[in-house]
Amino acid sequence: MTTFVLFGGTGDLAKRKIIPALYSAFVNGRLDQNFKFIGAAREKLTDEEFRVRVAAAIESYASNVDGATEEKRAAFLATTHYSKIDARIPEDFAALKDSLQTSETNATLFYLATGPDIFIPVVEQLSKHGLVEGNARVVVEKPLGRDAQSAKEINHSLRSYLNEHQIYRIDHYLGKEMVQNLLALRFANSFLEPLWNRKWIQDVQISISEQVGVESRGDFYDHTGALRDMVQNHLLQLVSIVAMEPPVNANPDAIRDEKVKVLRALHKFTPDEVSKKTVRGQYRAGAVDGKPVIAYQNEPGVPPSSRTETFVAIRAEIDNWRWAGVPFYLRTGKRMASRSAEITINFKPIPYSIFGKSQGPLRSNRLVISLQPEESVQLYMKAKEPGEGIRLSDVALNLDFAEVSNSRRVESYERLLLDAMHGDLTLFVRDDELSAAWAWIDPIMSAWQNDSEGLKSYISGSWGPSAASYLLAQHGAAWGEEFVES
Ligand code: BG6
Repeated sequence: MTTFVLFGGTGDLAKRKIIPALYSAFVNGRLDQNFKFIGAAREKLTDEEFRVRVAAAIESYASNVDGATEEKRAAFLATTHYSKIDARIPEDFAALKDSLQTSETNATLFYLATGPDIFIPVVEQLSKHGLVEGNARVVVEKPLGRDAQSAKEINHSLRSYLNEHQIYRIDHYLGKEMVQNLLALRFANSFLEPLWNRKWIQDVQISISEQVGVESRGDFYDHTGALRDMVQNHLLQLVSIVAMEPPVNANPDAIRDEKVKVLRALHKFTPDEVSKKTVRGQYRAGAVDGKPVIAYQNEPGVPPSSRTETFVAIRAEIDNWRWAGVPFYLRTGKRMASRSAEITINFKPIPYSIFGKSQGPLRSNRLVISLQPEESVQLYMKAKEPGEGIRLSDVALNLDFAEVSNSRRVESYERLLLDAMHGDLTLFVRDDELSAAWAWIDPIMSAWQNDSEGLKSYISGSWGPSAASYLLAQHGAAWGEEFVES
C-alpha cells in the first residue's frame, strides 16, 4: 500500500495541481487499492475539514476528469486524511509516524510542496523519526536554491539524510507528453539523426510564452524572477533533451548522464557577453486577448519600484562538437501575446536556389515541436503550388497527437507522481544537472545585478521588448511569429 504525504497540503500548488493529479490517477485506477493520502500543513484541521478543501479543489480544478463519478469522488475523499505539522515541532512528526504505522504502509512518498526554506527541517525530522528508511521517497518542488551555492547547500543537506535514488527533484515540464515524445522522435527514428547537428541546423529556438501574469504569487515571484522561475529549470531541461547525445539505454541514469553533459557544455557568459546575449523585461499595463491588464509593478505583493524580470531572452551556445556555433535562442515571458511552448529547429538554407524569388518564398525547412496548447510536430517544407508553372509555397507535414491517438491524456503532475510512486527517476532532475544549470545561470544573475539599467519594459499582450527581436535580427534570424519572407 502506498501512502502519499503532502507537505504544503493546504497551499496553492496542492490545490491547483497535486490534488487534481492524484484524483485523476485514482479515478483511472492508477493508484493501488489501499492508497492513502495525508495532507500536512501548519494549520489545525480535522480530516473532515481537510476533505472539504480537497473536494473544493476537485470541483475547481478536476471537475472534467474522464470517468469521474460521485462514488469515485467519495471513495477518494475516504482515502484522505490530515496531519497538522509544523516543521519546527518534533512532536508533530511523532504523531505522523503513529498514523503511518497504523496504515501498514509499504511505500511512503513525501511530497514537499512548500517553500525551499523548510525542505531541510522537514527532511531532518522525517529522518530523525525513522520515516525515510527503506522504500520512502521524497519529492522536492522547485525552486531548489537561489543560486549555485544555495542549491549546493540544499543538495548537500538532502544527501545527508537521503540517498540520491530517494530524491525526486520535480520539473513538471519533463512530465509533459511532448517532452517525452522528443526522446522518441530523436532516438527512435533514423532520418533525423544525420541532420541533428551544426552542419544542417541554423539555430534552435525554445520559447515558452504565457498570457497569465503573476496571479496570486506576486511576493514569491518578485523574489524569484523569470530567470530562476523558468529558465534555470524548464528551459534548460528542454535544451538538454534537444541537444543530448544518444544515451546508451533508456535507464534514468543513462539519460541523465547525457543531459548533464549538455548543461556542462553551455558556454558561460562573461559580463560583456551577458549584456550582448541576454535581454530582460518587465510587463507594463496593456491588453491580453482584448482584456485590459495591469502593470507588473501594480500586481498584489509586488513593490511599485520592483526591478524583477518577467521576460527573458537569451542567445545561448553549446561548446561541443555537435553544436559549436549553433545559437540556441531561449525565450520566456508572462503577459505575452499568446500561450505556447514550442521548440523550433531551423535548418540551414539550401546552398543554391534554382528558383527565382518570384517563384515563391524560400524560408528554409523547419521542424516545430509544439508542447502546448497543441501537442504536435510539424515539418515545414517547400512544395510546388498546384497549377501552371512553378510557384513554391511553405507547407507543413503535420503530426497532431490529438488526431493520431485518442488515448487518455495524462497531465504532467499525474505522470510524475505515478513515476515517483513506482520509483522511476527518468523524468526527475539529478543533483549534478541542477548544479550545472545553476552554474550557467549564476554569471547572468550577477551581471544583471550590476546593471540596473538593463531591464526593458514591454506592453502586456506583446511579444516582449523590441531588444529581444534585435537579439536575433542582428544575426539574420527572427522569432517564429515575426518571420518575414525575404
Ligand atoms: C511554473 C512557474 O514552474 O511553471 C510558473 O513557477 C509558470 O510561473 C508555470 O506559470 C508554467 O507552467 P505551464 O505548464 O503552465 O507551462
